Amino acid sequence: MHISVETSSDIRAVDALIVFVTSGGSLPKTIQNLDGLLDGAISRAIESKEFKPTVGNTWSTLTLGRLAAKRLIVSGLGSEPITTGSLRNAAGQATQAAKAAHASSVVFDAPPSPLSDRDVSAALVEGALLGAWNFSGYHQEDPEPSTLSRIAIAGFSSAQEATAGVEIGRVIAEAQNLTRELGWRPSSALYPEKLADEAIAAGKQFGFEVEVFDEVKLQELGMGALLGVGQGSVFPPRLVVMRYNAGNTRTLALVGKGITFDSGGISLKPGAGMEEMKYDMLGASAVLGSMCAIAQLKPAINVLGIMAIAQNMPSGSAYKPGDVVRAFNGKTIEVTNTDAEGRVVLSDGVSYAVHLGADWIVEASTLTGAAIVVLGHQASCLVATNDDLANHVLKASEEASERVWRLPIYPEYRELYKSDVADIKNSPGRDAGTITAGMIISEFAGTVPFAHLDIAGTAWTKPGPLNAKFGATGVMVRTFVTLAQNLA
Ligand code: BES
Ligand code: ZN
Ligand code: MN
Repeated sequence: MHISVETSSDIRAVDALIVFVTSGGSLPKTIQNLDGLLDGAISRAIESKEFKPTVGNTWSTLTLGRLAAKRLIVSGLGSEPITTGSLRNAAGQATQAAKAAHASSVVFDAPPSPLSDRDVSAALVEGALLGAWNFSGYHQEDPEPSTLSRIAIAGFSSAQEATAGVEIGRVIAEAQNLTRELGWRPSSALYPEKLADEAIAAGKQFGFEVEVFDEVKLQELGMGALLGVGQGSVFPPRLVVMRYNAGNTRTLALVGKGITFDSGGISLKPGAGMEEMKYDMLGASAVLGSMCAIAQLKPAINVLGIMAIAQNMPSGSAYKPGDVVRAFNGKTIEVTNTDAEGRVVLSDGVSYAVHLGADWIVEASTLTGAAIVVLGHQASCLVATNDDLANHVLKASEEASERVWRLPIYPEYRELYKSDVADIKNSPGRDAGTITAGMIISEFAGTVPFAHLDIAGTAWTKPGPLNAKFGATGVMVRTFVTLAQNLA
């Protein structure tokens, strides 16, 4: 995708000109001018309620030679104030409309707002690249080939600031699109070694260190939990450690669940919808995507990215209910349900983050169906042992416009996962299922401030302003990058 900042405001010979309006209030000057050229078509569409300028709504018309652009797309911003979140969504939705109209070149006209040129430009570019993206798939012939190849943004007072914003928007969008791409990829193409290879390739491209532990090394290190989950698959597990170094400062560890396929194992899942469990690695790929962005945006903080990767399969060699595994930190886990595998692999991932000297550990995983029962697909569940870190995560998520809601940790819940034969049992039952899952993982963080994000409901969703199809959202990349910047 070619992206440019336009300084002259009258060269608009493109397939689609994209403008933005808020709901309520009068139209900004530039849009009033366009409205005049189009005999009041815009204002009439709004007055007749044919077009409601809420976020995610667009209205489009051919310009029939009245404007230099062949088509005008008006995208709603909802009520004032204009935020980076509403701009990102509105740009994403408008880009989807441009794609549907088979446009190959578009110009975005930045609306007047109290935001800085840099923030506006970053939000527009990010939204456009997220909205333009879709998984390429394995069709013999692409059923919806995208023609969109040129994006220009205009309407800024500082071209230099706008250009800086383009870079930020591009970096953060591409990081999310990588996360999404990996979520869509089937486990036949993305088994543990392949996900580790993706990290190696990204490390080379963006300049961060990548270390991959294979099954022999995992054995040597005593990562019996990750090995246990992975032992039923012919594709062996991997632990990937990525390092972005900013010098002599504190270290944030990001840890992700990387189950490249979750069949449930011996505690087999029902068949209906099981194909979706290829995306049970979106926590890990969000960590990978975040590392790519962080390595380019260079916040003044060390960031560790850890992916605990395995394939959860039933077989003659699979781990079984009743088995006891020992994690890297020595703690033992009784496996009462092999389908509660996420917390098992993360016990090794999180204890390794402690071992590497993390000052904060933030972990993301598509961990429990219960998280979808609690908040639906509208927000991720947060379970945190430390108020200060929890507040940092909540603040970052708000700035990133990714909804997060904190659940409580009450000491009584601890009784639920006591085991008769081991330190912890992995599947305590239905009560407070999302909380106990997070608490179990927190047992491996020792005294390091720990936050768990259950993204089971948010990592893969229905179509939206930034998600043309249903599917992987790339959730938590924006929050993680913002968190790293805020902690720096
Ligand atoms: N990966 C699943 C959770 C999940 C379910 C994610 C639906 C996304 C959509 C996880 O490994 C799992 O199977 N969890 C079990 C835990 C239970 C056995 C304690 C669950 O939620 O049912
Ligand atoms: Zn799972
Ligand atoms: Mn499972």
